[in-house]
Amino acid sequence: MRPHIVVVGSLNMDLVIQAPRHPQPGETITGGQFRTIPGGKGANQAVAVARMGGRVTMIGCVGRDPFGDTLIENLSAAGVDTGRVGRAEASTGVALITVAATGENTIVLAPGANAAVSVQIVASHADAIASADALLLQLEVPLEAVQAAVEIAQARGTPIILNPAPARTLPADLLQRVTYLIPNEHEAALLGIPLEAEQEKERGGRSRSVILTLGERGALAMLPGASTHVPAFPVRVVDTTAAGDAFVAAFAVALTEGKSAVAATRWGCAAGALACTVLGAQPSLPMRAAVEALLAAQ
Ligand code: RIB
Repeated sequence: MRPHIVVVGSLNMDLVIQAPRHPQPGETITGGQFRTIPGGKGANQAVAVARMGGRVTMIGCVGRDPFGDTLIENLSAAGVDTGRVGRAEASTGVALITVAATGENTIVLAPGANAAVSVQIVASHADAIASADALLLQLEVPLEAVQAAVEIAQARGTPIILNPAPARTLPADLLQRVTYLIPNEHEAALLGIPLEAEQEKERGGRSRSVILTLGERGALAMLPGASTHVPAFPVRVVDTTAAGDAFVAAFAVALTEGKSAVAATRWGCAAGALACTVLGAQPSLPMRAAVEALLAAQ
């Protein structure tokens, strides 16, 4: 049976320019072609789940505008159930993205309609969250909405996977309710999660599972009683945008299929690596066959 994953999160249109490097404050530099590319951490993770073979339902909001139309069409074309994506009286979320020649990006986000995802909207989709094999969350919709989704999932026994991006501090009680937390190093530092060098001290005393993504160094699966480092899959990096989203989605699909958290972390590393090889967010999210081929090659 294909696992069913519910994503509560953002949908953005990414406005992307590749440039030789990032500009300094106050500086103008000339880049390459301008592109509009479907993105948003929630929508990216939903598309990545679908491409990994999962059944996926998206809960979120876009505006009543052409960007909103395109984002919904793109999700549907990828196989995501968009019946629970609402239309808000605000512009669709937009992300201004600069991609440097190194593949590293900078992102400025205008949340727009994502800010309309409310506690009431989330509560109206409690049935979907309750019946899912996992709930996937990020932090591009209001924190109250994330908390509401977590409460519903916890009450109904749905495993909760939180990707705490973009980085921010979070209430301790929210973090305690999460089944798997998947931060990068910057997000982990803000949340007070011990990093690689310090985590040995925590061994044995930890109850929550944290999968720390380390970019080109892979990931650290910090599970109760044991930590395992999973090396990265070396690739030629074009654009790191959505690599984290690919990781989280592949981890979620593998886990809900019954693989161990360490095995699921390997799937995450493989999917994240492949996402770095293609420009843009949703166009870069790999199909399951490509992830399996990379896993088999290493
Ligand atoms: O994680 C990548 C995403 O972050 C981009 O698609 C952009 O929309 C921002 O939300």
